[in-house]
Amino acid sequence: MSMREKIEEAAARYPDQRSAIMPALLIAQQEHGHLPGPILEEIADILGVERIWVYELATFYTLFHTEPIGAFHLQLCDNVSCMLCGSEALLKHLEAVLAIKTGETSPDRVFTLSTVECLGACEMAPVMQVGDDYYGDLDIGRIDALLARLRAEAGQVIGGADTAAAAPPGE
Ligand code: FES
Repeated sequence: MSMREKIEEAAARYPDQRSAIMPALLIAQQEHGHLPGPILEEIADILGVERIWVYELATFYTLFHTEPIGAFHLQLCDNVSCMLCGSEALLKHLEAVLAIKTGETSPDRVFTLSTVECLGACEMAPVMQVGDDYYGDLDIGRIDALLARLRAEAGQVIGGADTAAAAPPGE
């Protein structure tokens, strides 16, 4: 089934096509990995809605990506509970070992790093979402173990890439 057909099928469940924009964005992102301008315009055309409505939703929610992202999107919560439990130090560590800043993607395109508002899992703060999974009670050791596992999943060779990425930017 094409993206258009999937969107049309989903949109048929909504009396107001504007309500179908969110599911349409999810379908398109699953198909393409991210949501560049031409895809947003195609969604607007399929649904027969204003393009600005599609752009507004696609750029408002951290769930959607208008730029290409890495194989794994690390979304670290920096809201109050997580911050009080050490998320700032975890963020600095992530930026150092990945050699990227928040909002950037690693050169090997394995990781994209973002901070997000409360993930609704404060009981296991500090928390990070990766894809559909939540990882809680994080500390630097758990972060490092998770990165190693994700790198292995991405088919990356742990060693040379790690060593190169281990130095903080500018060092
Ligand atoms: S403040 Fe981080 S999950 Fe709620």
